[in-house]
Amino acid sequence: MHLYGTQKVNGSGHLEIGGMDATQLAAEYGTPLFVYDIQLFRERARAFQETFKQADVSYQVAYASKAFSSIAIYQVAAQEGLSLDVVSSGELYTAIQAGFPRERIHFHGNNKSDAELRMAFEEGIGCIVVDNFYEIQQLTKLAQEYDRTIPVLLRVTPGIEAHTHDYITTGQEDSKFGFDLMNGQADRAFLQMMQADRLNVLGLHCHIGSQIFETSAFRLAAEKLVGKMAEWHDKHGYTCSVLNLGGGFGIRYTEEDTPLEPSVYVKEMIEAVKIVAGDSNYPVPEIWIEPGRSLIGDAGTTLYTIGATKRVPGIRNYAAVDGGMSDNIRPALYGAKYSSVLANRAQETLSETYTIAGKCCESGDKLIEEAQLPAVTAGDILAVFCTGAYGYSMASNYNRLARPAVVFVEDARAQLVIRRESLEDLISHDLSYGKKELQE
Ligand code: LLP
Repeated sequence: MHLYGTQKVNGSGHLEIGGMDATQLAAEYGTPLFVYDIQLFRERARAFQETFKQADVSYQVAYASKAFSSIAIYQVAAQEGLSLDVVSSGELYTAIQAGFPRERIHFHGNNKSDAELRMAFEEGIGCIVVDNFYEIQQLTKLAQEYDRTIPVLLRVTPGIEAHTHDYITTGQEDSKFGFDLMNGQADRAFLQMMQADRLNVLGLHCHIGSQIFETSAFRLAAEKLVGKMAEWHDKHGYTCSVLNLGGGFGIRYTEEDTPLEPSVYVKEMIEAVKIVAGDSNYPVPEIWIEPGRSLIGDAGTTLYTIGATKRVPGIRNYAAVDGGMSDNIRPALYGAKYSSVLANRAQETLSETYTIAGKCCESGDKLIEEAQLPAVTAGDILAVFCTGAYGYSMASNYNRLARPAVVFVEDARAQLVIRRESLEDLISHDLSYGKKELQE
């Protein structure tokens, strides 16, 4: 069994996270329950920042909050000196409610609405990552209307398609995001933004993929973008001060994954930037990154209660839990793999193999294909590891299941930070239809 962060097995043979017994958390808050190890999140945040400090470069580490967005995690991110990547008015609103420093908020998205951009102007956020020509028009108009200069980054697609264990380079990238770096789009966008009065072009941004293990893909991205910045400097005499290389650093979900320490990816990126900048006589820019999964992924564990079991002779044993694709769509959507342990009997011999099924009305609602566990009975608590990124944030109310509660644990204390949805919550946006008497 691989344990993460502050996890251990305590004297009662129970899984413990942040000094809290997981079975007690399940009893107090109910299941399914997302439990976040906040010390681990802080350690990850500090390790990224330490790497930049040691390399002696200016930096921002922005938490890509699509991985898990809530007021409480934004507050911890702010305490840790992180910046924040938001992609919608919903995430931006949450950040504002959390009191997140506006100047450290970066706004992403390939189709930002006028209302979203207005909100960004009104709140005076740190920068907007411009994705397309339509957005340049929107921003030019709004900057005039608000009579305010807005800092922007230009998102480019560098023609690198990275997958977990490898990457390919393509002349042009088929992506809905950003300006193509190769076919002249990025150059045109740069010139348009330079000519617009009130757009302050900070520099370039790219994000080459997610759950990537390959350092060379990040190095190549860094080289291509610094190369472009140096080219613009020579052609137009303009120096971009910021290079944002996105997120995507891979993490360990199961023993099949063998990522490097997150900071190693950053070390290599910085090295590549320094080399290309040196070769082209270009000042080393401020380097920004946007990790999501590698900050929050392994800090999250989901606790479920096991209910029904079913034996299909000669084929498999099912054990069903009280959640499923409604709180973790990743296995159904991407074939993602997870590891697990029985939180109430964490030291018992793993004598059986189960397929862990969810409770949604879909055959594909399976969380783990082959979980090695002791023989389970109804009421056992199953802990699924590494669910901190893209779990709660991609949760749904499919089958009108209520979204789980979320607790943060740290220093042997637990605090509820998102309450479980109630049945009333589930119908709170519903309105009756039809005859007047039906509505009363
Ligand atoms: N920056 C940008 C512009 C992004 O689009 C993303 C992720 C990140 C940063 C953070 O990437 P990370 O460090 O978390 O890999 N739902 C998928 C992942 C989608 C990622 C989308 N963009 C999943 O569950 O695997």
